[in-house]
Formats: sequence, structure tokens, C-alpha cells
Amino acid sequence: MNKSPFRAIATVLTGLFVMGASCAAQADGKLVFEKPKPDIAATPPMGWNSWNHFACNIDEAKIRGAADAMAASGMKDAGYKYVIIDDCWQTGRDAAGNIVADTQRFPSGIKALADYVHSKGLKFGIYSDAGLKTCGGRPGSRGHEYQDAKQYAAWGVDYLKFDWCNTGPANAEASYTVMAMALRDSGRDIVFSICEWGDNHPRDWAPAVGHLWRTTGDISDAWVKDAKSRAYEHGMLDILDQQVDLWRDSGPNHWNDPDMLEVGNGGMTDTEYRSHFSLWSMLAAPLIAGNDLSAMDDATKAILLNKDVIAVDQDALGIEGRRAIKTGDDEVWVRPLAGGDKAVVLFNRSETAHDISVDWSTIDMPAGMKADVKDLWSKAVRKDVKGSYGANVPAHGVVMIRVTPKV
Ligand code: GLA
Repeated sequence: MNKSPFRAIATVLTGLFVMGASCAAQADGKLVFEKPKPDIAATPPMGWNSWNHFACNIDEAKIRGAADAMAASGMKDAGYKYVIIDDCWQTGRDAAGNIVADTQRFPSGIKALADYVHSKGLKFGIYSDAGLKTCGGRPGSRGHEYQDAKQYAAWGVDYLKFDWCNTGPANAEASYTVMAMALRDSGRDIVFSICEWGDNHPRDWAPAVGHLWRTTGDISDAWVKDAKSRAYEHGMLDILDQQVDLWRDSGPNHWNDPDMLEVGNGGMTDTEYRSHFSLWSMLAAPLIAGNDLSAMDDATKAILLNKDVIAVDQDALGIEGRRAIKTGDDEVWVRPLAGGDKAVVLFNRSETAHDISVDWSTIDMPAGMKADVKDLWSKAVRKDVKGSYGANVPAHGVVMIRVTPKV
């Protein structure tokens, strides 16, 4: 196990936080890290994660299949990069405390799987938990943070999702800080995805600690929470509504994470999935697909591969969009983009199609200014539009546009 000074500091830190005492590594209430967070998430991470579709029913063939499909379907070319194994790949620890993968399901081992994913020109991610056990009851990383981080680096891990089950009275900021320090000390650049469901005020500390942090409990494959959703799960709209006040917290290398995509999993209509994908892109959300990539229908592909919408998500300014107007079931979401363009979503939450429009004043443009407007789903372009833009929006649907002012 690594015996670096970081580990020592981290251990002391945990102790101090857990006891509720003040912490030597905090100055003026701000965390001070000896090693900086690697700058590897200038735009929100994009990839695929096994959980939303497969849950614990994973094996190396499925993960390899996801990597194959990501490369062959055009997703890789569209920017998707990380292939992430979620919970249930691990079964125990050996006598030296090293984490051991399930040899039935991953007989070739995790290093071979990471090598395979890398051979496709993709990056490899894995999952653990800050507690004694993961949410699926597998061994967590508590007390093994430095050992696990070294192991991940040796395997070639590029992304770690770190969950928050079975943590008892532990302090979230301290626990995630320990793992952040361990990762920074591991010798490999690893994206750190914090997953404590927004329960411990992550906006106050997570931007310094990780590259992204969950803002809510789990998403379920439903428009709104339904009878099939578990207690800790939320429908897509429920999650959206919890993002409204968070837009100031996000930016390059530190992103709000409203949870992974459900596009293509079958619980919503294609119209609803288009809304989900559009709105997540307005939120500068990590675009982590959660469907079976090896069995995508054309509609699912057309959503996940919409390069105009992805370009909004990945915009270089990294300013999260926000809800500018809400009138009953009609909403207008606005996101400023690099170069002065604006992305706008006209969102109809109701059960009937109707017109929604946006005035230029809502997107900080003079009424007299001309702009070219591209509909990012139909691809239609209207030139020299002045004052406002309106469109008929399907029930549960969006019209998403990119407005390019003519200056
Ligand atoms: C928690 C997380 C999910 C998933 C499961 C795995 O519920 O929030 O995203 O990782 O654990 O058990």
C-alpha cells in the first residue's frame, strides 16, 4: 500500500472530520490540496455506464460489447469516450486487502478489459463506494482508498464513480477528499465522479474535490416517478425540477450531474427521450448513455447521435443553461454559448401540442436584432428572424433551437 504523505494527511483529515473538529487542510473554509485536480473534464464527460440497463447483471462480454458498439455506431466519433462498469464487478478482498473482481463474470480480469476498451480508442471507468460496502453490497473502499486508487491506476482506469452507501456517520466532504487525494497520488489522471445524491451540500465542496457530482437520487426510466420507481428513484421531470437553482455551481472541470441518461431503455416515448436529451444538454450534464448500445433502434441512435444537441452540451464556455420562463406547463430554457449564440429549448410538459415562443429579450438580444435560427432536431433553418421565435411543440416534447445573432 502507498505510504505517501498524502495518505497520512488524508487519514488524519478523515479522523478530524469524523470527530467534527476543525481541519488543518482547510483555510478560510476552503479545501487546500497539495496536488491539483487534473484538468481532464473541460467539457462534461461523455460515455456509457452499465447501471441503468444492466444493473448487477454485468460481465466482461457485455462491457466489451458496449465498447464495440460505441466505436461502431458513430458514438465515439460524436464524442462519447468513457465505458464505465458500475456496481457488482467486485466480490471481495484478498489477504493483502486488494480488491478482487468476480472471476465468473470477469474471467479475463479488469486489466484485460481496460486494455480492450483502450484498444478501441476509448477510455475505461469503474465504480466503488466511500463506505464499507457498495449499494449492491459488494466491498467498498473505506480504509482502502489509497490501495484501490493504486490498483485502478495499474489497471488503466480513467474514471471513477464513487458512491455513498453504507457510510454510517462519515463526513461526505472528508470521505470524498480522501479518495480525491488518493487518485491524485496514483500516478494516473482519473476523472472523479462524486455520487452522494446531493445529500451533503456538494455545491459547497465538490467543485474542488471532483470533476462532477450527482445532484439528486437515482433517475428511473420514467417521465415522472411512477409505481415501478423505487423509493430513492425520481422520474426525469422530477430530476429536472431539482436542477433549476443549481446553474451557478457548474463549469469547466466541475459539473453538476443530474444522473445518467435513460434514452433507449423503453420506459419513455421517443418524444420524451428527445426532451430528456435536449434538457440534459442545456444543463451541461455529463452525457452518460445507459441503454444497451448493442441493440439500439434507429430512433435511439438518432437521439444519442444528434451532433447539434451534443455541441450545445459540450459548448466550450461551459455555462449551464437555466429555466428563464415557466408558465404552467410551458417552459423556456436558455443557455449562452461560445461566440454569442444562444441555445433555447421550448418545452411543453402538457398532454397537448401547442405553440410556445421566446422573445429576444428573454435571451438578452435587442428586439430589432436579426438572427439565424436552426431547429436542432428538424435541422430547418430560418434566416433573419427578428423579435421572437415561436413553434408548435408536441406534448411532452421540445423544440430546441440555436440562435446565431447577426452582428
Ligand atoms: C446508487 C447510485 C446508482 C448506482 C447504484 C449501484 O444507487 O446512485 O447510480 O451506481 O448505486 O448500486
